[in-house]
Amino acid sequence: MDIASTPADSEANMQVADAAPPPQAPPVIHREDYLPPAWLVPQIALEFALGVDETHVTSKLSVQRNPAGNGSDLMRLNGDQIAPLSVRVDGEAINDWRLDGPDLLIELHGQAHEIEIETLIKPIANSQLMGLYASHGMLCTQCEAEGFRRITFFPDRPDVLSVYSVRMAGDKAAFPILLSNGNCTAQGEGENGTHWAEWHDPWPKPSYLFALVAGNLVANSAAYTTRSGRKVALNIWVRPGDESRTQHALDSLIASMKWDEQTFGREYDLDLFNVVAVSDFNMGAMENKGLNIFNTRYVLADPDTATDADYDAIEGVIGHEYFHNWSGNRITCRDWFQLSLKEGFTVLRDQLFSADMGSEPVKRIEDVRVLRSAQFPEDSGPLAHPIRPDSYQEISNFYTATVYNKGAEVIRMMRTMAGPERFRKGTDLYFERHDGEAATCEDFIKAIEEGAGLDLEQFRLWYSQAGTPQVQVRMAHEGDAVTLTVSQAVPSTPGQAMKQPMPIPLRIALFDRDTASHDGERLIILDKASDTFRFEGYAKAPVLSVNRGFSAPIALDVERPVEDLVFLAASDDDPFARYEAMQSLVVRHLIAAVSDAMSASAKAAERNAVKRAFAAVLDDVALDDLMRGELLMLPPVSYLAEQLLVADPSALYEAREDLKAWLGRELSASLRALHDRVSAIPYSRDAGARGARKCKAQALIYIAAADPAEGARRADTQYWAADNMTDRQSALSVLCGLDVPERKQALDDFHKRYEGNALVIDKWFALQAGSTHPLVLDHIRDLALHPDFTMSNPNRVRALYMSAAVNPKAFHDAGGEGYRTIGELIRRLDPINPQTAARFVPALGRWRRIEVERAHLMKAELEKIASLPDLSRDVREQVTKSLG
Ligand code: PHE
Ligand code: ZN
Repeated sequence: MDIASTPADSEANMQVADAAPPPQAPPVIHREDYLPPAWLVPQIALEFALGVDETHVTSKLSVQRNPAGNGSDLMRLNGDQIAPLSVRVDGEAINDWRLDGPDLLIELHGQAHEIEIETLIKPIANSQLMGLYASHGMLCTQCEAEGFRRITFFPDRPDVLSVYSVRMAGDKAAFPILLSNGNCTAQGEGENGTHWAEWHDPWPKPSYLFALVAGNLVANSAAYTTRSGRKVALNIWVRPGDESRTQHALDSLIASMKWDEQTFGREYDLDLFNVVAVSDFNMGAMENKGLNIFNTRYVLADPDTATDADYDAIEGVIGHEYFHNWSGNRITCRDWFQLSLKEGFTVLRDQLFSADMGSEPVKRIEDVRVLRSAQFPEDSGPLAHPIRPDSYQEISNFYTATVYNKGAEVIRMMRTMAGPERFRKGTDLYFERHDGEAATCEDFIKAIEEGAGLDLEQFRLWYSQAGTPQVQVRMAHEGDAVTLTVSQAVPSTPGQAMKQPMPIPLRIALFDRDTASHDGERLIILDKASDTFRFEGYAKAPVLSVNRGFSAPIALDVERPVEDLVFLAASDDDPFARYEAMQSLVVRHLIAAVSDAMSASAKAAERNAVKRAFAAVLDDVALDDLMRGELLMLPPVSYLAEQLLVADPSALYEAREDLKAWLGRELSASLRALHDRVSAIPYSRDAGARGARKCKAQALIYIAAADPAEGARRADTQYWAADNMTDRQSALSVLCGLDVPERKQALDDFHKRYEGNALVIDKWFALQAGSTHPLVLDHIRDLALHPDFTMSNPNRVRALYMSAAVNPKAFHDAGGEGYRTIGELIRRLDPINPQTAARFVPALGRWRRIEVERAHLMKAELEKIASLPDLSRDVREQVTKSLG
């Protein structure tokens, strides 16, 4: 029987094609088509004969018919660029297996069987960095989402949970350290200088959480005792020479473990927790059970080589991966459409953790800035999708700001509506009810509903509808009553023309203009297309502060006089709202600056309002420097462009640069005084000194914009005097944008000083590619030819090209050179590393929202990519959707 064409193949449902796909289009996978697996794999024993050139894998699966399955005799084992050397069932070699595309199909007639499969893989040739690959002589794995199938044939779907036993053997000199999930149960010496180790992970897990590492590594170790008394050995593994830069990661890990016990009641569940840093990695880090694998950039730090932002990112990512042990590993996802179940929730958890470790308001502002500059454009473009997508071609393309960051915002709204205590009851119920399961977003919502006592019936729309709700607020004052008329519109997005109104929780306050105080914050929930809210007891018209703390991930349109924004920027007691008022002032000024809608005198009046707000921030002695630095930041061009249906990014960029220079001139004395004051504060990692460095960076930016000579002088002094990377980088960043002799000297010094430190050389690339220098495109072209540039390291590729793609000056150059640069990159990178290549497509995919001449050039690049015959599934999906 030709089982490859058996119609009753239930497990193939996750791979079925649309009714009439164009000849080469990859199949579209639909959420609604989910069916449980026909076969389960309660246990797996893996054996690895390790080698960088060739690794031999033997996989023994104990399989069982799934009582919840459809009873099919056919077992589908996914593969990807591998071939079986042998297949045995119950000890007998069999020949009646079939390949269905990349997958292996085996027919099984009993209730339970043993399957043994041998494969041979070539780690050194694995440039995609998915599956088992080599990095600097070390072997490591990346299996999420579908990388395990590049190691051996397996039902590579997150609802198949197995207990893993791993044995690996290899050359002891090449691989002195052998790691996998769980605990090391045995190890010993073999022949010819080899050694071996056996690992056992008692917690059943899906294949995407499997990990193996073999290489020459050293650890920074500590012991942690959980609140119930379990002693856990902690190790941060790095290449020899890097161990001096691991303490912050280790401290962050201990802090994470403690915090999750205190805040969510979650305790660690193994005797060992390993973190390994790898310099070739597609993403940030990976939460493999008991063996997290990290991009080096989220592990290594010391004051000389890492900025304050790097330190914060390490703390956040260490926390994020650790928190996955419960939100992701103990409770995993039923299928990849549920990705936000683990990612949205875990991002919220890491955000709350970082807020508790540092400044809560500053953390909130940073998170909102990321959301608006990365997620809002996604939600308004051709790749918009709900936090729980309905279909995909390549799941790697759905590790997005929407699934992660908007996903976190959606859960944060539940927390806002319930309050932290009731929310905790909801998460307790979720963890208790679904422990050990592969769950769905619906399971999570139900648990929060019951545990926290919320009605989330209508709220579920946040999971199914894409697009950023546009909320309009109008205030009227009559007698002693204030009436807010609030309405919402959720814009149509690809595949979702019509939307329904969603519940939108808005934290508001009504300020008395004279006393600059309010009578308490209120939470209103808009759950209709339009509604009115009435408040009495206001003899005078108050000043409205709304969406405080960014209580809902929406775009807000409030009609109010500039004076109210100046008032809130100076006096709002919610730090986020204060920041928001500043941003609104700047946004409305810059949008007016690029349009003809406003008279010159009105424009000048708005600009003066911006100046007054900035002056107040510079002079406010009650403000801490961390917040001051935050308030001084201008919104990025990407967020400004979001305000317009069709934007001319260069005009926005120029207007923003003009404002920077004008503010720098008008506030010159205060800015110089600020730069002088904070420059005298010595380096330390405490909040005051970090705030000082943030202000130093911001002040320098304005000073240089206003007076390049003075800016160059100060930046040069700061660069050479710096005793830490934060100051050195902020000085070099300013020098990079200036056409002055100090620029080259500092850049050459930086390169020489940090030669051999890949993460710092990444900064050297990123600063130049992200600069405002008039010749930035020439610099980018030269950097691509620099001997330190390589297409095989994702960090280096991103340092150069992602910096270029988010640099409006370079990317949106009127001649189209920026678009051609990114287009060519995608075409060249796709055959090497499709997952990373696909991440550059959304930049070009914005073309519909860009003025017509540039749009034409952007689209031409997409078409050129689309015309290639052998595109990856990753890039194909993104390009097709971007053109469609
Ligand atoms: N699951 C990882 C995280 O969010 C991200 C990741 C996805 C890493 C895919 C590698 C590959 O922590
Ligand atoms: Zn995650």
